[in-house]
Amino acid sequence: MARSGKVAVIGAGFYGSTTAMRLAEYDIFDTVVLTDVLEGKAEGLALDMNQSRPIQNFETKIVGQTTGLDGSGYEAIKGCSIVVITAGLPRKPGMSRMDLIETNAKIVRQVSENIAKHAPDSVVIVVSNPLDEMTALAQLATGFPKNRVMGQAGMLDTARFTNFVAEKTGSNVSDVKTLTLGSHGETMVPVPSQSSVKGKALSEVLSKEDIDALVDRTRNGGAEVVALLKTGSAYYAPSAAAAQMAKAVATNSGQVMPVCAWVDGEYGISGVYLGVEAEIGSKGINKVVETKLTPEETTALKTAAEAVRAKQADVKDL
Ligand code: LAC
Repeated sequence: MARSGKVAVIGAGFYGSTTAMRLAEYDIFDTVVLTDVLEGKAEGLALDMNQSRPIQNFETKIVGQTTGLDGSGYEAIKGCSIVVITAGLPRKPGMSRMDLIETNAKIVRQVSENIAKHAPDSVVIVVSNPLDEMTALAQLATGFPKNRVMGQAGMLDTARFTNFVAEKTGSNVSDVKTLTLGSHGETMVPVPSQSSVKGKALSEVLSKEDIDALVDRTRNGGAEVVALLKTGSAYYAPSAAAAQMAKAVATNSGQVMPVCAWVDGEYGISGVYLGVEAEIGSKGINKVVETKLTPEETTALKTAAEAVRAKQADVKDL
């Protein structure tokens, strides 16, 4: 595939920098822009990443840029067709993602306003937490059409579920299919009815107790990593998910992925950003794709929608 276009990653913490590195290694973009508010951090990481090009064999250039709270430096994202927002604080052990809402709302709002100014035609992918609320806020603060703003969570949560099922059943991850919808938080909805191992329903392969335990572990997947790391949250699997979403936009792939998308009538739910499956293309979300759920799973999804709706209403004032 020919190399073209420009993608930006806002925030050069572990999540942002690993996302930028993965995007550069795809070797499908002309330029990956990485920004951070810490003076020199993004420039230093970009220099290091560029020096990996002869070894990893890719030509995409990485540009690092320090940005100021006054919006200085954001000229660097001019012409970007995709912007990934990773800016914000990660969790510490014992914290819920929701504990970050006030601090990260201020950061995501400021970042979003600068994206609207300098990359007004971009598709925005949000990964900052609490995810569903920060996605809603980014849409409000950019003023972009809702299909052009989405959040990354479902691919990560689904990957965690798949990995746990593969380990439990001694299977290759490529033989396991799972799905996770709902919020990226307490009301996450892993979907065992849509999960299988080598085409066999999960309920035929594992006991109900085992499935329940894996569902629980998936729901707490982020916290499990935070508790071990003690100084931050996960980034290898999260960045893999965010980078694949950006690639789907860049290549107009039409892939159906679990993402945080604006839901408008699907599953009988309206007017909320929620984890659902959606078809991704160059304009962002082409459409939400409804999956067959059991009555219990549908109820859980509706509960998730109401929980995030209440919080999403709050973010406009933060
Ligand atoms: C996680 C964070 C990134 O789930 O939300 O690991």
